[in-house]
Amino acid sequence: MTHPNERTIEAARLSFNEELLSADYPSIHHDDEAVERLVDWLAPRAGGTYLDLATGAGVMAFAAAAREPAARVIGVDIADAAIARNREAAREQGCANIEFRLMDGRSLDFPDATFDGMTWRYALHHFPDLEHTLADARRVLKPGSPFAVADAVRHPADEPDFINRFQALKPDGHVRIYTAEALVELFRAQGFEVKARFASAITFTRALDADYRALIADMPPEVLDLYRVKVAGDEARLTFEVLNVRFLAPAGRPL
Ligand SMILES: C[S@@+](CC[C@H](N)C(=O)[O-])C[C@H]1O[C@@H](n2cnc3c(N)ncnc32)[C@H](O)[C@@H]1O
Repeated sequence: MTHPNERTIEAARLSFNEELLSADYPSIHHDDEAVERLVDWLAPRAGGTYLDLATGAGVMAFAAAAREPAARVIGVDIADAAIARNREAAREQGCANIEFRLMDGRSLDFPDATFDGMTWRYALHHFPDLEHTLADARRVLKPGSPFAVADAVRHPADEPDFINRFQALKPDGHVRIYTAEALVELFRAQGFEVKARFASAITFTRALDADYRALIADMPPEVLDLYRVKVAGDEARLTFEVLNVRFLAPAGRPL
C-alpha cells in the first residue's frame, strides 16, 4: 500500500506539472520585488554553488543565476514537465550557469556542505516531514551560509484553521501552512539563526465548488477578513501573508 506521504508528493507532481506551465502561474507567483530581496539575501558570488529547492518554474533559480553569472545555480523539483521546460528556457536564454535536476527534495542527493546558499520559496507547505528536510538542508549547506525561505503563513487569529482547510481542498499535495512564529521555531530547532525577515503577500482566485462554498459559509466573517476573502459568482479571491526569512545555517557540527 502506498504511504500517505508518497500520495501527497504524487499529487503535487501531477498538479504542478500542469499549473507551472499554465499562463496564469507567472502573474500570481512572480513577485519581482520580493524575489530581488531574497536574491539579495542569498548574495550569490563568483565561484559559489547555490540550490533552489522545489524550484517549480525556476523563478528563484533564474533570478539568482542572472545576479551572478559566475555562480552556479541548481534547481530541483519533482515536477518533470517543469524541469524539462526550465532546461529549455535556460538553453534559449543562453543561461549557462544554471542546471535543473529532477529530484525529490525530501532526500537531497548532494554531498555534505555542497552549497554556499539555498532558496525555498512557496514550497515548504508541501513537505510532510520538515524536521527531516531541515536537517538535510543543514547537511548540504556550508556552515554559516544563507537560507532564504518564503512561504504563506497562517494568521494567529485563524483559530478554525481556515487557511489549511481551504488549501487542503485543492488536490496539490498541500501538507500544512504554519503561523510565522511556528515556522521560525522549526528552523531554530535545527540550529538555524534568523538574520532578517519581511512580510509580502500573495493574492489569487480559486474556482468554487460545493466543498469550498460549504467551508466559506461555515467560517465567522472575522476569520474570512483575515485573508480578505471575497466571493464573486463562481470564484473567491483571497490574500495570504507571506513570511520571508533570511536564515543562516549553523556554524557548528550537526545537532
Ligand atoms: C507553489 S510551487 C513553488 C515553485 C517555486 N519555488 C516558486 O517560487 O515559484 C511548489 C513547488 O514545490 C514542488 N514540490 C512539492 N513537493 C516537492 C518535493 N518533495 N521535492 C521537490 N519539489 C517539490 C512542486 O512540484 C512545485 O513546483
